[in-house]
Amino acid sequence: MIGKDLAKAENLLREGKLVAIPTETVYGLAGNGFNEEALLEIFKVKNRPFFDPLILHTDSLDKVKQIVSDIPDQALSLADTFWPGSLTLVLPKKNNVPDLVSSGLTTVAIRIPNHPISLKLLSKLEFPLAAPSANPFGYISPTTPFHVSDQLGDKIPYILDGGNCNIGIESTIIGFPNNKPTIFRKGGLSIEQIENVIGPVSINSNSNSNPDAPGMLKKHYSPRNRIEIGDIDLMMKKYHNKTIGILSFFKSYDQIPKDLQFVLSPKMDLNEAGKNLFTALRALDQLNPEVILTEYFPEEGLGLAINDRLKRAAAADH
Ligand code: TXA
Ligand code: MG
Repeated sequence: MIGKDLAKAENLLREGKLVAIPTETVYGLAGNGFNEEALLEIFKVKNRPFFDPLILHTDSLDKVKQIVSDIPDQALSLADTFWPGSLTLVLPKKNNVPDLVSSGLTTVAIRIPNHPISLKLLSKLEFPLAAPSANPFGYISPTTPFHVSDQLGDKIPYILDGGNCNIGIESTIIGFPNNKPTIFRKGGLSIEQIENVIGPVSINSNSNSNPDAPGMLKKHYSPRNRIEIGDIDLMMKKYHNKTIGILSFFKSYDQIPKDLQFVLSPKMDLNEAGKNLFTALRALDQLNPEVILTEYFPEEGLGLAINDRLKRAAAADH
């Protein structure tokens, strides 16, 4: 059920039930981060493997300090600058964080999301909310309440409606292994913005081989259809005898029916493109063309995160 009843959401969460909540990045499947039953239910509803750790969400630095044992100076600068926002910090955890949240790691991922409704909800709760993206494991993250209800509507009691997500791509995850700031997942906060505050960071978003971010599987964000990334004009020739869907940055293509084309930002704005990405991928998936053709976006700003998600989508077995 989709609705705007904050008290209902609060009561369900207090009872250990799950509620899908809006954030500026994507919708989260939220449960009490200190309640083992709620945590188990999150893994069950998403069909998520236990080795993939969860992000805890809260609304203040004071509450963050109750669950982490140390905040390095660089992490504090980032928190001061970007929270609430699309930044997740991976920090050493205190013992009150259940192993289910962190998949047994000594660190925990935390974020203060920038969405008025969820901030209000979080401010009423004395416990943090564990909230992975509210999609079945391995599928595209939801950016509207309807995306959530399409896939998980019959498995959870409530979806808190906060409209469409403004950023549309999951948060950027940064940790500090050996005191070196390291990006574990490219996301809604650009690396340029982060480097403006703390200087150069390393990037280690390459999934499978990275034991610190076991959830960053290469095959992720996958629609059911085959996706190819490259020069769209050339690929259109290669696939002239197939039904083609197109996901482009700003160009449209006369040869392809309009309803099979998704132009993410005619005005070439990477933020707008990021906001539209998952909605377009979902729509294309439902239209079910034989092949989806897309291209690399400029490697700057949100373009890095967009390319990352497209590569993961294209890496899927079909
Ligand atoms: O934007 C977001 O981050 C959304 C919204 C709902 O906040 N949440 C989200 O959660 O994308 P999820 O579960 O889909 O992705 C969480 C990822 C894990 O897959 C893993 O890669 C990383 O966070 N992670 C969690 N705990 C970690 C840890 N202790 N060390 C390294 N990476 C961690
Ligand atoms: Mg996810």
